[in-house]
Amino acid sequence: MKNYIKADEWNIIEEGFDPDLNKISESIFSIGNGHMGQRANFEEAYSGETLQGNYVAGVYYPDKTRVGWWKNGYPEYFAKVLNAANWIGIDISIGDEKLDLHSCKVTDFKRVLNMREGYLQRSFIAELPSGKKLAINAKRFCSIVDEEAGAIQYAITPLNFDGALSVNAYIDGDIANQDSNYDEKFWEQVNNDSEGADAYLTLITKKTAFVVCTGSRVAIFQDGKPVDASYIPVSKTKYIATGFTVKAKQGQETIIYKYAVNVTSQNYNADELTQVCKTVIDRVAAKGFEQMLAEQAEAWKAKWNESDILIEGDVAAQQGIRFNIFQLCQTYSGKDDRLNIGPKGFTGEKYGGSTYWDTEAYCVPFYLATAPQQVAKNLLIYRYRQLDKAIENATKLGFNNGAALYPMVTMNGEECHNEWEITFEEIHRNGAIAYAIFNYVRYTGDKDYLNEYGLEVLVGIARFWSQRVNWSGARNKFVMLGITGPNEYENNINNNWYTSTLACWCMDYAAEVVKQVKSSDPEKYHQLVEKLDFNELEETSFWNHISENMYFPKDEKLDIFLQQDGFLDKEIIPVKDLDPKDRPLNQKWSWDRILRSCYIKQADVLQGIYFFMDKYDTATIQRNYNFYEPITVHESSLSPCVHAIIAAKIGLEEDAYKFYLRTSRLDLDDYNNDTEDGLHITSMAGTWMSVVEGFAGMHVKDDRLKFSPFLPAQWKGYSFNITFRGILINIKVDVEGIHLSNNSASDITIDVFDEPHTIKAGTNVFVAHRVRV
Ligand code: BGC
Repeated sequence: MKNYIKADEWNIIEEGFDPDLNKISESIFSIGNGHMGQRANFEEAYSGETLQGNYVAGVYYPDKTRVGWWKNGYPEYFAKVLNAANWIGIDISIGDEKLDLHSCKVTDFKRVLNMREGYLQRSFIAELPSGKKLAINAKRFCSIVDEEAGAIQYAITPLNFDGALSVNAYIDGDIANQDSNYDEKFWEQVNNDSEGADAYLTLITKKTAFVVCTGSRVAIFQDGKPVDASYIPVSKTKYIATGFTVKAKQGQETIIYKYAVNVTSQNYNADELTQVCKTVIDRVAAKGFEQMLAEQAEAWKAKWNESDILIEGDVAAQQGIRFNIFQLCQTYSGKDDRLNIGPKGFTGEKYGGSTYWDTEAYCVPFYLATAPQQVAKNLLIYRYRQLDKAIENATKLGFNNGAALYPMVTMNGEECHNEWEITFEEIHRNGAIAYAIFNYVRYTGDKDYLNEYGLEVLVGIARFWSQRVNWSGARNKFVMLGITGPNEYENNINNNWYTSTLACWCMDYAAEVVKQVKSSDPEKYHQLVEKLDFNELEETSFWNHISENMYFPKDEKLDIFLQQDGFLDKEIIPVKDLDPKDRPLNQKWSWDRILRSCYIKQADVLQGIYFFMDKYDTATIQRNYNFYEPITVHESSLSPCVHAIIAAKIGLEEDAYKFYLRTSRLDLDDYNNDTEDGLHITSMAGTWMSVVEGFAGMHVKDDRLKFSPFLPAQWKGYSFNITFRGILINIKVDVEGIHLSNNSASDITIDVFDEPHTIKAGTNVFVAHRVRV
């Protein structure tokens, strides 16, 4: 755990330069805008430890799979998010000395991520080996207004000399992924070109043939006036730069503006990319840096208005939650249904292939409540578009009749993961996709989604489950064998309670949606029957029959759901009795020891209880929580938030707070010692859930928004904005009670502690605190 980020409500601040922390800071200070993003690498040269990272959404490379023992059904490749051309580069030389923080004396270093307005700023004084001193002040952002563009303002002031500054503002495409399986570089050059202050580099990915044109334009200012420099192009393979020299006097500031644009063949014809890139550069450069930044601040203001959580009386917690919301909004803007949310977003390479069940189980609730409806809908449509591939995937594994198995990890719908226990066994992901459809319709009321897209996906998923179970003569029940649940510290188990519960729910839900679509849009229903070759009576009655006759492991004595058959054969020793030196288990213990132990990586039975909380009474939830939490090591970043929500539900407010803290500052404080690889973007949505669904107890039932809030003892108050069916609501919980305001033009009825309160448009309602459990 580290503790070097200064507490501040709206900014992430690092003071002083410590090269040992540089890779962690590169992750933490990452910026992005949904279309592209990057780690907080330096503009100037840096020869110290760094993980260079620039990413363009949706651009990937199928890296040939590398496994020790090939198994039939493994995917041939792992689709990797590509490290793309570096567009921030600005090399500075004074005489024959290069500005490089690794070889200079650095003082007054400060790095700030301004979350309110969406930019990264860095300032420092560098003393070169010759004793020449320079003050640098750099600001940059990825625009959320002009999503293909980013802009840099790089100010240099010689502090103790007059001299010439030689500058190379470059785009470097000769880059590699650190996680490349065969040390291969994934890009080839199409062309590079420069003209005056402009430089363009067009690259194509091997195999996938994504073409990306990255362009830049520089503008130089001294004393508030443009400097007319003569530009010298520097061209190498996969590299293009605009070189120039300016004279600067001691104390005189030279500002270099660099506007950069990434356009891709996903959105334009490949052979028009340079022209398109130039047009976008013309547009943003005409606005200029200050106007672009002002527009950025306005656009972020609107985003914060939809999604902010305000915490009073705890700056560290405030900074933590805003950091999570900020990074989520930087990663996914929801405008393009071909894109999704990688567990590391645009902040690192780990988890290569982008989409996991994390999106449906964790991210969808965040975007549902904090962004326009289309944003969450696009996440659902992403899976709809990949249904054919999910059917193909299931067919490869031996399923038939349109059964669909969505991949554990994917970019384009094809499975990328190749550990048999996950690829073939961790099939609960299929259920999360169905659950997200249910969650979306429950939250938005958009039942048309089911007719248009949802039902097709649900039928594919239900068909899969109905073939994945088998009849056990011995038990006289259906069973599900060979499973890995969310707890990846167990493999090849039988009758994982969570997976079986989700599977049955999926089949029942699909059957219910069949009826719904049939009665609301008979024509569409008949089209779907044709398209899917669907035998309603036979298939839905079989689905219901399975769910009525499914075997679920349970322990009668403890009266708990059993994670899987035989779970109680294990030696149950609570985590608190483990030697801290043994933690984290996944780094300290052999896999064999982990598999035989009782320790649970992340919510498993409790994930199911979280999904279907309404089905269980408080005593049942308590018994299961009290049994499973003490043996859970939370070694997945997705774990604490589910526990925070359940703890809040059963009145364990201290536990809820403890789990919240663990998720909220996971990356800022580098809890797991792995922030340098990138941020845990998908679990950040879990942090939001801990406050909104945990502390405030928000859920939706029967078309009604419900809350049962409490105030953590450590806080004076908290409040947040959410949008429910077009109505923007603010919920504030403080020592007095619960204040609800309706900031829209329509009235809304909300249940607080199960009692309805109608809040007229533009008015507030107050509800006193209650003993909740
Ligand atoms: C978790 C999975 C998760 C993946 C990506 C793993 O450590 O166990 O549940 O999908 O990380 O976040």
